[in-house]
Amino acid sequence: MTRRTVALDGALSEYLLQIGLTETPVMRELREFTATHRQAKMQIAPEQGQFLGWLAQLTGVRRYLEIGVFTGYSTLAVAQAMQADGTAVACDITPAFTDIAREYWQRAGVADRIELRLQAALDTLDALLAEGQADSFDLALIDADKPNYRAYFEACLKLVRRGGVIAIDNVFLSGRAMAPQPQDPPGVHLIHAFNAELVRDPRVRLCVLPMGDGMTLATRL
Ligand SMILES: C[S@@+](CC[C@H](N)C(=O)[O-])C[C@H]1O[C@@H](n2cnc3c(N)ncnc32)[C@H](O)[C@@H]1O
Repeated sequence: MTRRTVALDGALSEYLLQIGLTETPVMRELREFTATHRQAKMQIAPEQGQFLGWLAQLTGVRRYLEIGVFTGYSTLAVAQAMQADGTAVACDITPAFTDIAREYWQRAGVADRIELRLQAALDTLDALLAEGQADSFDLALIDADKPNYRAYFEACLKLVRRGGVIAIDNVFLSGRAMAPQPQDPPGVHLIHAFNAELVRDPRVRLCVLPMGDGMTLATRL
């Protein structure tokens, strides 16, 4: 027994998936395809996808905002678990990735629920606010370029309704966020500072999950 979270080595990580992972066939196919991609490590861990889908179903998500789509695994996990009339806005800038995403969303029968906006996510978030979509999202996931995380979070605080959840991926940065070194890229320093601010932010209630590369959940108060 331990009061600390158990570190997952390869074998225990496999066991976690063995006893816990339930994916639809299309999700499994997408994950297996993405594993062959040269940027495979960008995808969230399967247990994170499962958790986000579980959360979306539990809380009855109807509006989902995703910042960082890649091949669409996280989008699919949530889109499949949303309410029947649920819709998602998915932000990315790389059509070579999102072409793959669209193919799998179509195969899963959820493509018509997902509006993909292909431009810098900050422009999409500004556009959503200009369109009057403040306070309209139930759940958001921030999983794109790290230097913009703080700006994405501020925009999500306006776009997500009170009581809604903002999930922030990669808050550990493989451990580098803990003690950035001078030679680390600006994104590492930014995430370090952002993490330290977030835990004291009176606008949200926080929970950091040691899942994947670390995922913070912030409920908007
Ligand atoms: C870590 S991946 C997202 C992984 C995805 N959530 C998943 O589970 O597979 C980051 C994505 O952010 C996109 N991205 C990077 N900079 C961006 C920007 N400024 N605006 C929008 N998308 C961006 C990249 O093209 C990439 O697809």
